[in-house]
Amino acid sequence: MQKIKIQGGNVLTGTITISGAKNSAVALIPAAVLCDEETTIYNVPNISDTQALNEILTYLGATVSQENETMKIDSRNITNKPIPENISKKLRASYYFMGALLGKYKKVEMYFPGGCSIGSRPINLHLKGFEMLGAKVKEEGNKYIIEAEELNGTNIYLDFASVGATINIMLAATKANGTTIIENAAKEPEIANVATFLNTMGAKISGAGTSEIKIVGVDKLHKSIHEVIPDRIEAGTYMIAAALIGENLKIANIIPDHVDALISKLKDIGVKIKEGPDYVIISKPDHFKASNVKTSVYPGFPTDLQQPITTLLTQCEGKSIVTENIYENRFKNLKYLNEMGANASINGNSAEIIGPTQLIGKTVVATDLRAGACLVLAGLIANGITIIENVEHLLRGYEKIIQKLTDVGAKIELN
Ligand code: EPU
Repeated sequence: MQKIKIQGGNVLTGTITISGAKNSAVALIPAAVLCDEETTIYNVPNISDTQALNEILTYLGATVSQENETMKIDSRNITNKPIPENISKKLRASYYFMGALLGKYKKVEMYFPGGCSIGSRPINLHLKGFEMLGAKVKEEGNKYIIEAEELNGTNIYLDFASVGATINIMLAATKANGTTIIENAAKEPEIANVATFLNTMGAKISGAGTSEIKIVGVDKLHKSIHEVIPDRIEAGTYMIAAALIGENLKIANIIPDHVDALISKLKDIGVKIKEGPDYVIISKPDHFKASNVKTSVYPGFPTDLQQPITTLLTQCEGKSIVTENIYENRFKNLKYLNEMGANASINGNSAEIIGPTQLIGKTVVATDLRAGACLVLAGLIANGITIIENVEHLLRGYEKIIQKLTDVGAKIELN
């Protein structure tokens, strides 16, 4: 079990450059399976989630090379064999092999995916989509066997605009016969990024990034070169750090539109933001005002920044209410924030945070990825030393977090 140690109270100044988006890269890598030639993906973050996907590809027989942030994947020699549980459970996104392998070979055998424990996280919408395309889904305990004689395009309405289900259905439908329409599709930028990748290989996908996506099936996908978009959640996490303890801290290599909901919330709280074409510059203001945060699907306030922003709300004057509308169990961080001196209480899917309260360094636990990010932010502003245990969760999602924070003045180390 790795730990992070932070000496709080050091002002952050300089530039943090944002890496490629985890939630885009983790879909692009399995999508490369659909290609009948070699693909090259730039700006792939080197985090444990992308390493685990690399492991699955290699297990299946693909040739994968990763040098710095460039990944080359040649899927021509893949054998479509069952993906064992010990690798599929390393991360949530292993489920994208379902759509990709089903699309290409009309059969996939794999186990329920892993990922952060933040709610029940079923995959019923993914499976319903595959069935509507003509596949039969067999569940044997934790194992899924999904098979189709042929996949045929159809209209699929999603009961909830799920990111994973939208991408997975898009992957399977890319090589289906005829046209598939996904209605009430998720609109997150990562979905458009995956659709563009598939289109550069010769797929015919339109409407990605809107709530209706049209996929006209094709037989073959050719060589392609693509780039992962900047990580809006990593960017948002460092923007919150800048608001908490920054002095002209520049967050560079971002797409400001992708963090609009956070920018608007930070302004509401009293944070001044200088916006450039691909960066923001943020300093800690004299005073923070309480504000309410409600998570929703894109372009609403992202659930993945809900836990990080709770640290900022502990510093706001008055009562803030946070409402989590996507997951049932995404407040595990608050127990530890309270141990550090916060005044937060949970009531159903809402939490009330009363501030400001001075945080004090303690030994705390990263129960999941974004809880870990919340506690790093807390450690940066706390009096004294904070030790965060179980940071494997955090390292799954933030590339070079220790180096990036050290470079701008934090006292933080990984033990
Ligand atoms: N849901 C269902 N049935 C399904 C699919 C989803 O009920 O078949 C429910 C989930 O239980 C959840 C909600 O719908 O309550 C949202 O799930 P969604 O499918 O949109 O999320 P996901 O694809 O599992 C991705 C990200 C998450 C991020 C969400 C929402 C990946 C690998 N994960 O998850 O990222 O929170 O979209 O934006 O892309 C993170 O990075 O910390 C993270 C958890």
